[in-house]
Amino acid sequence: MKNFLYDSRLTEKNKLEFEQRGWTVVDLKINADLINKALKGVREMKLISLKKDYKVRRIYYDHLFNKNIAAIELPFNQDICPQIIKIFFSEAKIGSLVRSLMNWDNPCCDLARLFCMGNYKYRGNWHRDYSTNLEEIHLDSNSRNIVLVGINLLPQKGFRILKKEFEFGGTNSIIPNMAIDKAIRKFPFPLSPPKNSYYEMNAEIGTALIFDPLIIHQGSNYKERFDFHMKFYDSKNPKEKKNYYQDFSVIDILHENYKLDFDYLKNKCNIPIDKRSTLLRRFNTSVDYRTCLRRLLKVKFLKNHHSYKLLKSQGWEVDFLSNTIFQN
Ligand SMILES: [Fe+2]
Repeated sequence: MKNFLYDSRLTEKNKLEFEQRGWTVVDLKINADLINKALKGVREMKLISLKKDYKVRRIYYDHLFNKNIAAIELPFNQDICPQIIKIFFSEAKIGSLVRSLMNWDNPCCDLARLFCMGNYKYRGNWHRDYSTNLEEIHLDSNSRNIVLVGINLLPQKGFRILKKEFEFGGTNSIIPNMAIDKAIRKFPFPLSPPKNSYYEMNAEIGTALIFDPLIIHQGSNYKERFDFHMKFYDSKNPKEKKNYYQDFSVIDILHENYKLDFDYLKNKCNIPIDKRSTLLRRFNTSVDYRTCLRRLLKVKFLKNHHSYKLLKSQGWEVDFLSNTIFQN
């Protein structure tokens, strides 16, 4: 018998959806006033990160006149985390959700970032957060030892995840072997599989998207976003650290009192330290975002590549309009 109370926000439908298709959206049952205040809080975090030059950030597409910060790493650090976000987490009880869904005793967060991209359309590459055991894809997703939780402070529209039947080893697979799986994940431009092969999220404000990161997925949005992105595992160490306002453990660098050591974070933890692109690159990104002109040659080159022919034979196409104002 596990030592926790079942979280009633998690319905039978949520459990079944997660087990079988690898994702579900749970209503956090937080009142609208607190969500609004938390939204103000994350906007403030973005400003503080610029003012204090809190360098642990990701920039996906740096524009000419806009340092387009896509994400802030280590968001619970005392240098950046406002009181209202602490209150929000004490109400959101994410640990309780993870415990009830996964039947874990000690969910521990070992990755946390705040996605905070400005008003740009964005689409990443299809990927898995780990890929060591593809033959396990068709097991129930609640048997995994890793789970991802996204906490939506704005509506989250666009995130895509492949249906299990189209996955590696599925009855309708568009990833028939490891070579194709690798080719998809390594392809240096966003791809679109057939429309009926994936789910596309349309999650409301104040919800948590819980998903199985072994299943291939693609980050995507159409406008400004604010969502916390957190990865959990079941820690066997009862002495793991905890932030007083959270009901789950965290690894050392995610504790609010962690003293930032940029070299350590970059070299040992793979946490990026942001750096602006060159002027020329930023100019190209901004022009391409509005015109699609810069990508014509690149896409022409990629389409001639051997790996693309392989992918196309399975229904994967270059998503030509991704990361532009025309993205659909
Ligand atoms: Fe991912």
